[in-house]
Amino acid sequence: MPQTTTTANVLGLRLASPVIVGSGLLTDQERNIRRLLAAGAGAVVTKTIHPDPPRDLDERIVRLPTGMLNSTTYSKRPVAVWLETLRSLAEDGLPVIASVHANDPHALGVLAERVSGTGCRALELGISCLNEDGGLHDTADRVRAYTEAVRGRTSLPISVKLAAGEGLEARARAAEDAGADAITLSDSISGADVLAAGGLNLGGVFGYSGPGIKPLVLAAVYALRRRGFELPILGCGGVSDGADVLAYLSVGSQAVQVYTALHTDMIATLDRILRETASLLAADENALPFIVGRALRKSS
Ligand SMILES: Cc1cc2nc3c(=O)[nH]c(=O)nc-3n(C[C@H](O)[C@H](O)[C@H](O)COP(=O)(O)O)c2cc1C
Repeated sequence: MPQTTTTANVLGLRLASPVIVGSGLLTDQERNIRRLLAAGAGAVVTKTIHPDPPRDLDERIVRLPTGMLNSTTYSKRPVAVWLETLRSLAEDGLPVIASVHANDPHALGVLAERVSGTGCRALELGISCLNEDGGLHDTADRVRAYTEAVRGRTSLPISVKLAAGEGLEARARAAEDAGADAITLSDSISGADVLAAGGLNLGGVFGYSGPGIKPLVLAAVYALRRRGFELPILGCGGVSDGADVLAYLSVGSQAVQVYTALHTDMIATLDRILRETASLLAADENALPFIVGRALRKSS
């Protein structure tokens, strides 16, 4: 008998769909956030809010055959403007997750506390962007410091966003030890494209996203679960259809974020992914909680 349990519970939110719109340029405006939610997204993560974003960088995106390279960093909208936006979204009861980052853990704690005062119901720590200062050498100690600073200032549910790659398990466990309620995996990962003239496209190594990273992130989620990591995971990387959403659930994600795919026909693409996901879930002989992690049970 097909089951109909398709709601996901993450970060204290009861999501109408396990599909969440991830953080990026598309979620830098209240209008888009409202349109994405009206289209049926389970939740939307804002563009990363930062009290002191870099302003002198050449922030661009380029499309590659297997995804996208982007040199973008954080929202340029002032924190005060974001606080108003978050308050308005919260007053309407909308499931919005505020992505936040700052130049040091103390400043991030202060920002998180201010965001909590808006009625926003969950936070994502957007601490893993590699497009600043020529890259990011992330460590467990760094993740712990940022997470602890936020945990000390707010009781809101927190997901710590990490990038797949070296030392991931130690970073994920540091987030858990420091009081995170979930991790989001993955941020964009290091990528480069070489132009015909020999130089690097965008002038350096920047964030790579889209279909090309999906197998890497699926493997990373799967490996964390195999190693006994139990905190909820919001899987993210290269989702472009409903089958991708179910793949992320199967390797052990509780919910799934989609971003780069939405740069083409944003609302129509989201609508398609939501409909495909709903029909695959409805047709499945298992309810959502039993789909989560089943790739691990099948291979053990
Ligand atoms: C143009 C662009 C801007 C992004 N901006 C942010 C950001 O501000 N904060 C953040 O946490 N992630 C940001 N991301 C990363 C995405 O949220 C997502 O983690 C990553 O792209 C992998 O998922 P995808 O392949 O579905 O895009 C950005 C990605 C792109 C392509």
